[in-house]
Amino acid sequence: MAQAGISCDIVVFGGTGDLAMRKLLPALYYLHRDGHLHPDTRILALARAQHSLESYGKLVKRHVSQHVARGDFDVVHWEQFAKRLDYLSLDVSQRVAFPRLTKVLSPGTGRVRVFYLATMPGLFAATVQHLSSVGLVDEHARVVLEKPLGESLETANEINDRIGKVFDETRVFRIDHYLGKEAVQNLLALRFGNALFEPLWRNAHIDHVQISVLESVGVENRGDYYDRAGAMRDMVQNHLLQLLCLVAMEAPVHFEPEAVRNEKLKILEALRPITGMDVQDRTVRGQYGAGQHAGERMPAYYFEKKVDHDSNTETFVALKTEVDNWRWAGVPFYLRTGKCMAQRKSEIVIQFKPVPHRLFPRSGDNPENNRLIISLQPDEGIRLSLMAKSPGRGMGLQNVDLNLDFAAAFTRRRWDAYERLLLDVIEGDATLFMRRDEIEAAWRWVDPIIEGWGDFYRSPKPYAAGSWGPDAADSLLERLGHSWLDPR
Ligand code: BG6
Repeated sequence: MAQAGISCDIVVFGGTGDLAMRKLLPALYYLHRDGHLHPDTRILALARAQHSLESYGKLVKRHVSQHVARGDFDVVHWEQFAKRLDYLSLDVSQRVAFPRLTKVLSPGTGRVRVFYLATMPGLFAATVQHLSSVGLVDEHARVVLEKPLGESLETANEINDRIGKVFDETRVFRIDHYLGKEAVQNLLALRFGNALFEPLWRNAHIDHVQISVLESVGVENRGDYYDRAGAMRDMVQNHLLQLLCLVAMEAPVHFEPEAVRNEKLKILEALRPITGMDVQDRTVRGQYGAGQHAGERMPAYYFEKKVDHDSNTETFVALKTEVDNWRWAGVPFYLRTGKCMAQRKSEIVIQFKPVPHRLFPRSGDNPENNRLIISLQPDEGIRLSLMAKSPGRGMGLQNVDLNLDFAAAFTRRRWDAYERLLLDVIEGDATLFMRRDEIEAAWRWVDPIIEGWGDFYRSPKPYAAGSWGPDAADSLLERLGHSWLDPR
């Protein structure tokens, strides 16, 4: 078998954090187990906590075994994987600590180095400056930045400017893990790998689009971060806007970083701004109160750990926007995300226009529209709702679904988003990462909404945990005769 991958050092800042434990190290374990890491690839975790290599190894083992699928963790692979691991206790805010890192990484060897910053964005700039000052940034070094990058256009620019002084843009990998999901890449395959939908994929045939990313869990242990971010910065600015881009963008000429990112950028720039008083009309912000989910009582958001008791942070956002270009003019795009919702569900609904002239009698209340539903989570699939003749007398029509279930169609294990993205970073492929100008365009659109909330919409609307969000989110669609496609 050919030797796998590129020999490299993967350096994880925030090596004891939630992201490293739940996502990055399990993903690296899978890449190792499945032969995608070069035999010489090393993983160096850094954090402030004091650990011996042995105690860190135990910690990682516990988490990896919990976070990979049952049956995928085995001792033989683990022991080989553990040999790649190293740990260094280091305070990244202290420049004096970095020469110790140099000793471990020995610069000047021409080895690819991936610096993964799984820390607070406030530490990004200082970390890369310190790396550079000890000679660890050369043309083989890459940096991976977690979202959200900054809290506004201004703060994102400050971070990007400082990072740009050390790493040129081609070596900055801004991650949005939604782009690493198989189901999200399937959206590209559906649109650009099939001739079928393209002629219909436009305002002449599409009535509206719904993009929902709903979670049934609350803020869990991340109250301190979340209370400063809220759903707009945590989800809409990145994951939802990226999904919108993939739905709305033109076909890129190549599946290569600049071609794909140029097309996404055009969509972000064409988003109709929501400013001033419009924020009241076209956005809904909510916050969960106490409620129930699957028979379990759930606390109100403001009683969650590390959340301010008077918090006005939104845990739910719904909004209506439009993409002001030739293809999409006049088509509402509804975006919605929330925590503590009735169901975990991420899906994109493409609602087509009705037939121009009705020939057959309506049967029951069925709307006579075709609908394409792309399910991203928890199940991955595509459903196309068609009209068919009801059995029996007459020509009454009813909806029937053409159903494609990816779990049934592909028996191979589905990769986690971080596996795919980590491998892309090692190989230097930035196609599924965000370019600086995309981040800027996204903040440019989001900032006025957050400002408008401060001026005109300070208190989020309450909704019960375990529900479908505030009633106002339904009214947002009802005004145009639309409704969310929820099983209520
Ligand atoms: C993260 C957000 O980016 O995405 C979290 O910070 C959210 O708040 C998570 O829970 C959702 O990701 P996924 O892959 O579980 O849908």
